[in-house]
Amino acid sequence: MSNNIVWHNTKVSKSDREKLNGHKGACIWFTGLSGSGKSTLANELEIKLNNLGIHTYLLDGDNIRQGLNKNLDFSNEGRKENIRRIGELAKLFVDAGIIVVTAFISPFRVDRENVRKLLGDGEFTEVFVNTDLETCESRDPKGLYKKARTGEIKDFTGISSPYEKPDNPEIRIDNGKDSSLSENVKIIIDYLRNNDLIKQ
Ligand code: ADX
Repeated sequence: MSNNIVWHNTKVSKSDREKLNGHKGACIWFTGLSGSGKSTLANELEIKLNNLGIHTYLLDGDNIRQGLNKNLDFSNEGRKENIRRIGELAKLFVDAGIIVVTAFISPFRVDRENVRKLLGDGEFTEVFVNTDLETCESRDPKGLYKKARTGEIKDFTGISSPYEKPDNPEIRIDNGKDSSLSENVKIIIDYLRNNDLIKQ
């Protein structure tokens, strides 16, 4: 990075934008295996937040990897850069006074912790979607686990590439066979209310 670049504060501030929006900016960061239910939960959460009049934006792994991050692979380095860029993007959304919801495997602890450090106190809520590999593999919604087992896909999370569980996530969703989507969304909404991230 060049040493000759300085951050310019804009005249309209983050708190001006938050006031106008009627709530603070924040990042709700989902992490978990492929097929764990991150996207489903994130989508349902976004609907609920929208119904409460909250400004949101959902960033999803499969979408971002077709655009902004289409030059990145699934090597450790590719994933690291993927999460670094998403972290920076999430920071801009938070600065815009939006509740940004992200759904990426984000398998490495250090990369998630780096995103936490980028954001302000209380602005990063880590949601661990704790669905075991066996369940994800039996669901296999995109048929990718099958391909990973035959070696057609290399470096597949949980099979041939590691997933590091969060040690201390703000929220853990045990997304087993009998869990209910609406109950799981309620756990997250209750957390956001109890921590003054939303008032509605
Ligand atoms: S991350 O590891 O860099 O955070 P990300 O969430 O962006 O991953 O993308 C994961 C999605 O890409 C999966 O849900 C799956 O559909 C697809 N995918 C394709 N190849 C792989 C792979 N080798 N490992 C994991 N997911 C893969």
